[in-house]
Amino acid sequence: MSVRKKVSVIGAGNVGSTLAMRIVEARLADVVLVDVVDGLAEGKALDMMHAASITGTDKRVVGTTDYSAIKGSDVVVMTAGLPRKPGMSREELISKNAEIVRGVASKIKEFAPKAILIMVTNPLDLMTYLAQKITGFNPERVFGMAGLLDVARFKYLLSEELKKPASSIEAFIVGSHSDKMVPVAGVTTVGKKPLRDLLPREKVDEVIAGTRTSGAKVVSLLGKGSAYYAPSAAAYKMAEAVLNDNSNLFCASAYLRGEYGLKDIYIGVPAKIGRGGIEEILEVELTEEEKSDLKESADGIRDSLKKVGL
Ligand code: APR
Repeated sequence: MSVRKKVSVIGAGNVGSTLAMRIVEARLADVVLVDVVDGLAEGKALDMMHAASITGTDKRVVGTTDYSAIKGSDVVVMTAGLPRKPGMSREELISKNAEIVRGVASKIKEFAPKAILIMVTNPLDLMTYLAQKITGFNPERVFGMAGLLDVARFKYLLSEELKKPASSIEAFIVGSHSDKMVPVAGVTTVGKKPLRDLLPREKVDEVIAGTRTSGAKVVSLLGKGSAYYAPSAAAYKMAEAVLNDNSNLFCASAYLRGEYGLKDIYIGVPAKIGRGGIEEILEVELTEEEKSDLKESADGIRDSLKKVGL
């Protein structure tokens, strides 16, 4: 009999509950959904179990406010926090979400000390850094989700522009999960052909600008809350890579020890993800302009870190 896998999802809001549903419906693992609001996680889990009677799954989801339920988790995904409101910068969220992350990370340290921790709460790179400090986990066991999401948005815009399927596109994005992210155009390929041979520079720049504002566009269209279908899909793929020890190459917010000339920072880079968390960081070639954009992106993260006293 195979050992049951367990994922705990902290935060039963839009991202957390959609993620829990994806995990259970794909039969990836059992799920514990935790939220601070009484009844919220429990109610959503119950609704999902009712759905499971229709869709069919051998996996279970339970909802609770009690952190001791996360004991024995293989993976914890942290989505608790406030979503960005229209017109609000990610940085404005810092102090509120830092307070939430401090509290939740100490519970994770207490009840799930062996888990791999995937962060989703924004501002992502900052909250991932904070969570690693509070848990004291080996930095490879803590990483942030957003790179895969940003790459997905980049691929979507390119696929629309070029009328090619997103699945034929290989792309990387480095830097922070913010409007200072750095899509690496030089290593992007479409159907194995270099992007620069397919699209003029101005068009590539337009797509990059559109990628940087994709999240904000969803926020302004929704009018309330922020994106959750794509964020939950990205978190799902990362949890899957860990649980199935896939060594998949994804862009993720990872702890750097000198790669890309940066140290003691969490920032988006291409990385292999498997059972141990971040297994390897890839250093893709950057142009001088991209290097300088990456430095600017890192400086932005460091400024924000100072604001929360880290
Ligand atoms: N412990 C557990 N849950 C908490 C806590 C806490 N200390 N504080 C807040 N929450 C819960 C809220 O009660 C809410 O149900 O986190 C949930 C957040 O859900 P939403 O407001 O729907 O936000 P969501 O869209 O899911 O985004 C969550 O992901 O993409 C990021 O920027 C986004 O940081 C935000 C996070």
